[in-house]
Amino acid sequence: MNDAAQPKLLLDPYATWAEREGVPIVEDFGVDLLKVPTAPWPRFGVDGGIVHLKGRGDFVAIFVLDLPPGAQTAPQQHLYEEVVYVLAGHGSTVIDGPHGQHSFEWGPKSLFALPLNARYRHFNSSGRERARLAATNNLPAMLNLFHNEAFVFANGFAFAERHGDARFFAGEGNFVPVRPGRNMWETNFIADLAGFELKAWDRRGAGGSNMMFILADGTMHAHSSQMPIGTYKKAHRHGADFHVFAVTGHGYSLLWYEGDQDFVRVDWRHGVVFAPPDMMFHQHFNTSPQPSRYLAVAMGSLRYPFTTDKRRVFMGMDVSVRDGGCQIEYEDQDPRIHALYLAELAKHGVASEMGKFIKEN
Ligand SMILES: [Fe+2]
Repeated sequence: MNDAAQPKLLLDPYATWAEREGVPIVEDFGVDLLKVPTAPWPRFGVDGGIVHLKGRGDFVAIFVLDLPPGAQTAPQQHLYEEVVYVLAGHGSTVIDGPHGQHSFEWGPKSLFALPLNARYRHFNSSGRERARLAATNNLPAMLNLFHNEAFVFANGFAFAERHGDARFFAGEGNFVPVRPGRNMWETNFIADLAGFELKAWDRRGAGGSNMMFILADGTMHAHSSQMPIGTYKKAHRHGADFHVFAVTGHGYSLLWYEGDQDFVRVDWRHGVVFAPPDMMFHQHFNTSPQPSRYLAVAMGSLRYPFTTDKRRVFMGMDVSVRDGGCQIEYEDQDPRIHALYLAELAKHGVASEMGKFIKEN
């Protein structure tokens, strides 16, 4: 058959690229990134794999990079944004900036962004341990938009403004107070996300706290939220692609579509990621004897929301569905939700602190 007999339609240039990279591709609802299979990835010069979550939406994918002891990636430069969460190991990243090189040292639970189209390398500084990185990126959006790999992977344009203040590579940043749920920390690197100071956001429930991040002035979004011991957040829903990474503690999330009789459940601890699908209600529960904190990465930041859905979410994430928002208040939730939580807490020997927020029997 010639080309004329094979009309080109319904193409997915990103999916075609991903298949050709020759590394394992995992597609699932919730995934333990510490366990996903990896294989030598020639592009990076280290092992790697690709993760496509069920609720990832159209813009975002996760690349898992696994660096053997002492290894380094090949130099990389690409016209897509990437937010990197360190799953395991210690190392450093060197980034070429408009005024010279920047480097910073990372360890487990570090978070950083690679400025758009900046040349960089990752190094595993340990002689004994492997290092594993989760790089959440918008290559699907970029490759499907331009469908030209050379444009995305061999493009010399320098986005000098994306590098920001040199302090941003040293783990320092600027706090930009807005209001609860919209306070921002602008930086390129957070050495320890587990210990980063969050700010109270009561309207999302039960003494929770939060910080929105602006990383390398990106369109890729990240935020972190924490649930105190013995508490859970209120359910809400929004569009797809918020990739939720457990950072501290452990617990579970329930997900359901309006009208469903049963819940989908994802159990999580550090290493697990899941993405609530489009307009699926989801609710996060801390069953750990310590605060549970997670990281969420998505396309569309508080500074550059990109989509109408993100703009709507960032404006009304903590508004009740009764008032046109997307949150279910505790008093409106299915009674099975609280009963299940008390049973799960009992298994872990943790006392509920929800009595202040909801009537407990
Ligand atoms: Fe959410």
